[in-house]
Amino acid sequence: MRIMVGISGASGVVRGYELLKALRSVDVETHLVVTEAAVRTLACETSLRLEDLTAFASVSHDCRNMAASIASGSFPTDGMIVMPCSMKTLAGIVSGYADNLLLRAADVCLKEGRKVVLVPRETPLSLVHLRNMKAAAEFGCAIVPPMMTFYGDADSVEKQIEHIVGKVLAQFGIPFEGGMRWNGNK
Ligand SMILES: Cc1cc2nc3c(=O)[nH]c(=O)nc-3n(C[C@H](O)[C@H](O)[C@H](O)COP(=O)(O)O)c2cc1C
Repeated sequence: MRIMVGISGASGVVRGYELLKALRSVDVETHLVVTEAAVRTLACETSLRLEDLTAFASVSHDCRNMAASIASGSFPTDGMIVMPCSMKTLAGIVSGYADNLLLRAADVCLKEGRKVVLVPRETPLSLVHLRNMKAAAEFGCAIVPPMMTFYGDADSVEKQIEHIVGKVLAQFGIPFEGGMRWNGNK
């Protein structure tokens, strides 16, 4: 399996880092593209550097390189995950305004009918954000917001992140040990 991973500048860039680690652990080929704003957010929120993210990607692309393999529909992939997805990147995806490689890769997925999973992060959500999410769903994107979970002993930030990673991977039918599932009340 080959999946493109886009990381944009919303809060919680560390979620994208954990996603890359999880995809590496299940031997999925990843093509990573990180926006300039995501690098900024990463520095504001964590002690991670861009190299810490790229270390877990099979291939890492410069967000300005519109000639990269993933900018073309003739490069086969199983789809794309944008985690986290900023409101700006969401707007770019739903309007087709593909002015960086992340947006172009998502645009390619939509035109080729491939899966796009968005993990949008903002609060509170404006009507613009909500309309854009509705549009994304209408275009076939799966919207997987990083909601908090209170079952399955999700009692730490790490477990909350693991849970969302599990939910995202489930969109591709990829089982993930860290993802908690509700198996009914006994
Ligand atoms: C520390 C920090 C946290 C941010 N959190 C969010 C957020 O949760 N959601 C969002 O949409 N934008 C957030 N932003 C603003 C985006 O980074 C900004 O809109 C940027 O232009 C997004 O660009 P990109 O979509 O190309 O990554 C944050 C910025 C910083 C510096």
